[in-house]
Formats: sequence, structure tokens, C-alpha cells
Amino acid sequence: MHIRPEQETDISALRALISAAFATARHASGTEAQIVDALRTTGQLHLSLVAQAEGAVVGHVAFSPVWIEGHAPGWFGLGPVAVLPTHQGRGIGSALIRQGVSMLRNQGAAGCVVLGDPAYYRRFGFVQGALWYPGAPEGCFMQQPFRTTAPDGRVTYAPAFGSA
Ligand SMILES: CC(C)(COP(=O)(O)OP(=O)(O)OC[C@H]1O[C@@H](n2cnc3c(N)ncnc32)[C@H](O)[C@@H]1OP(=O)(O)O)[C@@H](O)C(=O)NCCC(=O)NCCS
Repeated sequence: MHIRPEQETDISALRALISAAFATARHASGTEAQIVDALRTTGQLHLSLVAQAEGAVVGHVAFSPVWIEGHAPGWFGLGPVAVLPTHQGRGIGSALIRQGVSMLRNQGAAGCVVLGDPAYYRRFGFVQGALWYPGAPEGCFMQQPFRTTAPDGRVTYAPAFGSA
């Protein structure tokens, strides 16, 4: 398995992969593949990493900019992240997340947020903090500042998350 940035030729396989991964997920809107498409067409798919195994695309993670009340720049949101059901539980999701977070850090980003199960995302360094997202279930909105001081305030995702 290796991880690389998405290419144009991956796009239809990615749609199928994301739909398949979320079809049986506990928390799914059913619009995750459309969100990734909308991020791409609006130029807000900042980082789109693909896991490839035996010539096939088996995992994907997206990172897009988020906006923080009070104008703290350089923050990104992780998600959606998806692994083909047949390939889950083998470390592919973890590898995608670790690689993406590391790339953001190396690019000089200020930090990353995620909305999801703390039992999963804590292992990648996400913690609860002063950033908040309206309506997020208790403990499920987490942050990972890459610099010493973390801002506080309300976080807004790219419009693609609402329009899909
Ligand atoms: C979530 C997902 C990306 C994880 O990818 P993966 O390759 O299966 O995960 P890994 O093999 O790297 O990690 C496996 C670990 O994650 C845990 N895990 C997987 N999905 C989880 C979830 N939704 N919530 C909490 N823990 C989860 C497993 O229990 C396992 O834990 P362990 O290491 O303590 O045994 C994948 O399961 C998936 O595509 N799920 C459907 C889509 C989804 O729910 N995306 C996330 C939305 S927040």
C-alpha cells in the first residue's frame, strides 16, 4: 500500500470508494462523495490523499480550509476519510491521517480540526480545546494546534459541506 496525492484519473473510483465506505458507517449523511466533489470544484480540496494497493484505490482522506471566528488563519479540517469496507482495520485510515497531518504541518499550517469519534482521532494527536463547532456532540469536535498557542472561537467549514 502506498499513499499519494489524488490524480484526475482517480475521481470516479474515489466517488465509489467514499460511497461504499459510508454506506455502512454509523454516522453518515450519504453526501460524503458529493462533498469531496464540491470541495474539488470550488478549489477547496487543499489536500486529497489516496491509498493505493495492488493498483486499486482503497482509501482516501480530504483536508480543506476552515475559518475561525476572530480570523485565526491557516487552519484546516480533516474529512471525510474513507477506506473500502474490504480493507478496513488494516491501518490504512491511520496511515492516511498521519501522512495528511504531517504534510499540513510541513506546509506551515497553524492546525487541524476534526469532527468524529474521539476514540479514533485521539490517537493522531487531536484533543478537545477552545475551538468549537455548533451542534457537535459532546467531545466529538477536536483540534490539533501545530503552534504553541491555539486560538478559541467558532469554526466554519467550507460551503461544500453545506451545499452537498
Ligand atoms: C474510519 C475509517 C476511515 C478508519 O479506517 P481504517 O483503515 O479502517 O482504520 P485503521 O485500520 O487505521 O484503524 C483501526 C482502528 O480504528 C478503529 N475505528 C475504525 N473506525 C472507527 C470509528 N468510526 N470510530 C471509532 N473507532 C474506529 C478500529 O476499531 C480500530 O481500533 P484499534 O486500533 O483500537 O483496534 C474506516 O473504518 C471507514 O472508512 N469507515 C467508514 C467511513 C467513516 O466512518 N469515516 C469516518 C467518519 S468520522
